[in-house]
Amino acid sequence: MEVVRVGFIGAGSMANAVHYPSVAECPFTVIESICDLRADRLHATADRYAVPKEKRYTDYRKMLEREELDAVYVIMPPMGLAPIVIDCLQAGKNVFIEKPPGCNADDAWAMAEEADRWKLKTMVGFNRRFSAVYRYAKRKIAESGGISSAVAEFHKDMLGSGPYYGMSILTTDIIHAVDVLRDLLGEPVTVEARVLSHWEKWMHSHNLFYALITFQGGRCGVLLANRTAGSRYERFEVHGRGISAYIRAPEMAEIFRQGAEGQVVKGSELTGTDDTRITYGYRDENFHFLECIVRDQMPMTHFADAARTMELVERIESFGTVL
Ligand SMILES: NC(=O)c1ccc[n+]([C@@H]2O[C@H](COP(=O)([O-])OP(=O)(O)OC[C@H]3O[C@@H](n4cnc5c(N)ncnc54)[C@H](O)[C@@H]3O)[C@@H](O)[C@H]2O)c1
Repeated sequence: MEVVRVGFIGAGSMANAVHYPSVAECPFTVIESICDLRADRLHATADRYAVPKEKRYTDYRKMLEREELDAVYVIMPPMGLAPIVIDCLQAGKNVFIEKPPGCNADDAWAMAEEADRWKLKTMVGFNRRFSAVYRYAKRKIAESGGISSAVAEFHKDMLGSGPYYGMSILTTDIIHAVDVLRDLLGEPVTVEARVLSHWEKWMHSHNLFYALITFQGGRCGVLLANRTAGSRYERFEVHGRGISAYIRAPEMAEIFRQGAEGQVVKGSELTGTDDTRITYGYRDENFHFLECIVRDQMPMTHFADAARTMELVERIESFGTVL
């Protein structure tokens, strides 16, 4: 395959902020066609990427029937996502989606099983795994003999704003931090958690998520997330054999080795830019997916892997108090 022909379903804010520009930048990829229910978004995005009028759709089924595509990006909210993704897979297309992979683990497994049936490449946009400082720090600790424990902290100043899409904020957003714990530590064995609501019980959604998880091999992970915090704050802490990293993606990571001076690495220095599309891993997750199609390899955050993250999310959420 010399050129990867990509179709998009969704021309909304996330797709335009990170996915269209990254796919357009990939040297062996062409944006072949676009579908969005909203004509204004469809044409504005299609004009920006010079997609011809006859390759613009408001019905994704017509796009799947008429266009010869190697991959479809389905970048829309989780409600109604799974049936569209399953149609794309049944049409033989490799598929990229954003997090969360559907509304629940059942959605995620339904998509993963369909992809497996047709032997297609799939990916969920867990961009943190691709951010430059995170990858650098993870590699340094792995080279020193592996990871023993990690902390994933993800707070936001969302007091009064309520959950996204009326769904659990653990599923729609904190899932990034849960996925990082799985990426660092493997598969969970036991989960202890406190999932609570403070200040805004009237919203009937949880806003405090604290979990202590043991992973295979006796590794230990901690999740800390408070959604009524004073600011957005994301931090991953990773410990290895006489080495630790404190990661504030996308900006920087501090790495300490026993008996040595600490090292500070910056996302802008590793990537040569301050553009968060690049420092925070959005460009590279897209390149990874597209390269995997060409090389016939399964992407790192494929649907079955993401379904396991959704299962861990649900195990943590099950500790929630009834609201
Ligand atoms: N990785 C991250 O850090 C991150 C950040 C923000 C959002 N997201 C995720 O990105 C996804 C999209 O979020 P967004 O804010 O861009 O949404 P959005 O509402 O701005 O865009 C979604 C678009 O999909 C279109 N659409 C919906 N159903 C369709 C259908 N059946 N056919 C064709 N088009 C359809 C809508 O018209 C809309 O233009 C969400 O799942 C969100 O969780 C991820």
